[in-house]
Amino acid sequence: MNLQQVHHVDDAITSRHSVRAFLNKAVEPQIIKDILTVASRAPSGTNTQPWKVYVVTGKKRDEMVERVCKAQIELANRPELTSQYQETFAYYPETWISPFIERRRENGWGLYGLLNIQKGDKEKMARQQLRNFQLFDAPVALYFTVNKVMGIGAKMDIAMMIQNVMIAAKARGLDTCPQAAWNHFHRIVLDVLNAPEDEELVCAIALGYADPNDIINTFITPRLAVEEFTVFLNE
Ligand SMILES: Cc1cc2nc3c(=O)[nH]c(=O)nc-3n(C[C@H](O)[C@H](O)[C@H](O)COP(=O)(O)O)c2cc1C
Repeated sequence: MNLQQVHHVDDAITSRHSVRAFLNKAVEPQIIKDILTVASRAPSGTNTQPWKVYVVTGKKRDEMVERVCKAQIELANRPELTSQYQETFAYYPETWISPFIERRRENGWGLYGLLNIQKGDKEKMARQQLRNFQLFDAPVALYFTVNKVMGIGAKMDIAMMIQNVMIAAKARGLDTCPQAAWNHFHRIVLDVLNAPEDEELVCAIALGYADPNDIINTFITPRLAVEEFTVFLNE
């Protein structure tokens, strides 16, 4: 790979960020197919390729958004329903510890600050949370499922596939938002997808063309310096 190619790869990786406002502009099905073809070069334990991807657009997308938004609104109004909307696997810890809790807070308040959402403004927070289930207006939703028989390693494999999808999309001028938020509504999602009983929802991705004029898309998150998360051992 020459230096220019290295820069192209680095640019695709470093320019990716979570986009939370999309244009009402369709994505060519062939582009989605190309992205998935490239992304499927992701490694997987013993090449099991445990991912299954549902590409949801058009009326099916609208049905998904409508059903899950309805459930989310009901849940926001009736917190006692929380137990009905448990994820199948815990993405986040039950008890948060430092330094992760601080980073999580910084992320949340950074985003809310940009949107002028103050602490305690539950209505605005609920509206923003609902944006997840409107796919931030993206025309395409990708839902990744795995066979329930597969272990935790398969989720690692699928995570690699997901990253590939996001980078391959970026290289084609498309943007994404990975969304674990949908996992709370896995029953509805799997029902709309008509997925077989043995499948479990792992993650969703909103895919489309970013709205360059929406302030939310100017949100760029920080990263630690290499020295802060790496231990170099030599002898
Ligand atoms: C597996 C996964 C699930 C995520 N779920 C959501 C989500 O449901 N809603 C959302 O707005 N962002 C979600 N994010 C985006 C993260 O907040 C984001 O990746 C993080 O703040 C770093 O910012 P960046 O993606 O812009 O670099 C998710 C990210 C990952 C990796």
